[in-house]
Amino acid sequence: MKRLGLIAALGVFWIGCKSADDAPLEDSNPAAEGTQQESMQLQAVSAGYKSVQSILNQKCILCHGENGKEGIDLRTYESIMKGGEHGPIIKPGDAKGSLMVQVIQKDHPKRMPFKQDALPQEHVDLIEDWVNEGATKG
Ligand code: HEC
Repeated sequence: MKRLGLIAALGVFWIGCKSADDAPLEDSNPAAEGTQQESMQLQAVSAGYKSVQSILNQKCILCHGENGKEGIDLRTYESIMKGGEHGPIIKPGDAKGSLMVQVIQKDHPKRMPFKQDALPQEHVDLIEDWVNEGATKG
């Protein structure tokens, strides 16, 4: 029994040391950067306009930015809701009827981002949910 206690104590000690040792390495560890990026993406999955805008910032405004290229400017809430020359791209409460939601579906013939990989499904879902919930700025 005494022995077991000693081993257990050593184990706790070892685990304690290990996490203390690991901590300072995190800055220079390339794996830690991956973790950081992951948590950024997770943030984007937390729903609401802010998350939608952060996805658009990463994947869309390169082409749909400053001069409202390709007819639309996806940089701000107001410019998104304004739509383009063909009219609104968001119909609050109706994701299926919203052009901006239609074009990010995997099987859309002109899928966005243009000629790039499709958005991860959870980002598509998030944008869809945001529109279905009324596409508010809050
Ligand atoms: C590499 C450039 C590029 C990126 C990145 C890009 N688009 Fe586009 N987008 C285009 C082009 C080019 C068109 C016009 C396509 C056409 O009509 O054939 C277009 C058209 C559109 C349209 C239709 C506009 C209208 O009024 O007809 C929507 C909506 C759209 N994009 C949304 C998005 C969204 C959302 C993203 C990000 C997920 C995105 N785009 C990323 C280049 C891009």
